[in-house]
Amino acid sequence: MRAAAIDRFGGPKELKLHTVPVPALKPNEVLIAVHTSGVAGWDAEMRGGWSPTGRRPRFPWILGTDGSGTIVAKGARVRRFRVGDQVYASNFEHTGFYAQFVAVRASATAKIPSSLDLKRAGAIPITGITALDGIDRVLKVRVGQSIVIHGATGGVGSMALQFAKFRGARVLATATGHDGMSLARRLGADDVVDGNSHDLTLAARAFAPDGLDAILATAGGHPLEALIKALPRGGKVAYPNGIEPKPRKRHGITIVGYDGEFDSDQLTRLARVMNASGAKVHIGAAFALADAAAAHRRLAKGHVLGKLVLRIR
Ligand SMILES: NC(=O)c1ccc[n+]([C@@H]2O[C@H](COP(=O)([O-])OP(=O)(O)OC[C@H]3O[C@@H](n4cnc5c(N)ncnc54)[C@H](OP(=O)(O)O)[C@@H]3O)[C@@H](O)[C@H]2O)c1
Repeated sequence: MRAAAIDRFGGPKELKLHTVPVPALKPNEVLIAVHTSGVAGWDAEMRGGWSPTGRRPRFPWILGTDGSGTIVAKGARVRRFRVGDQVYASNFEHTGFYAQFVAVRASATAKIPSSLDLKRAGAIPITGITALDGIDRVLKVRVGQSIVIHGATGGVGSMALQFAKFRGARVLATATGHDGMSLARRLGADDVVDGNSHDLTLAARAFAPDGLDAILATAGGHPLEALIKALPRGGKVAYPNGIEPKPRKRHGITIVGYDGEFDSDQLTRLARVMNASGAKVHIGAAFALADAAAAHRRLAKGHVLGKLVLRIR
């Protein structure tokens, strides 16, 4: 099969098309003919030498931690799927979605939301779960609350904004550029502020004169610190681990770093919420498998609206 893989750590040019064997299937795995693979910031970190497990990978290393496709074979112990099922999955431990086929544990796989096609479903296993976990599990967003989604047009933020609206919150989105601010409005934000403006504290206070309830942050730094200043005592901040720098501790404010729980149950929950909410998946750009290096160069430029993907079939 064809796969985009690296033979050593380095820049985007290390990502090259390889011909490699189709992965062997373990009893608890499904073999997916990949339709779409997500391209994310952590893929670039892996390409540069970071390992999510701490173990050194074997080269050639096929990147890609999530995606969608069709099951073409299953291990002897897999009961819940059939060959032909359209699924989405995440595979942080073994990566491998930048390829025509990937073997994934059935316990990290679920049927795609019926409201999405394979292309859009392939963009959200990790960002969608992370967004939903932030809104539901960590912040427990409720009807009528006032929430800031900081970084509302990225992979996680564009989904978190829509999930917060679905839970009945009023949402102030931060975004950058006219295009970013316009996308945040289209995704349903009640108000949008330029995340690089100097008066973020004032803007957040003006949005919620009776007090903000919480912030979901997908980026760190001064703008986030300015937003946190607007929270009253008892306010909450949630951020997915990985944002830099991490927010500083503040008296009277609960600040929680969390990891998404990437498994079949959470993917099934995400599918339910996608179907019920009609949330949209914004694809910033799609690249061919052979252009994986170009996708990584695009990622490095920044200001991606929504999500980058590789279109493999
Ligand atoms: N631990 C976990 O389970 C987990 C899972 C998923 C993600 N993460 C982490 O979560 C973070 C977000 O991931 P992602 O995939 O959503 O990344 P992303 O697509 O790059 O999103 C980050 C967003 O923050 C925006 N941003 C940065 N500074 C801003 C500012 N001052 N005002 C407004 N927006 C601003 C960026 O917008 P522009 O570039 O357009 O300005 C971008 O859209 C990353 O650090 C990732 O590693 C962790």
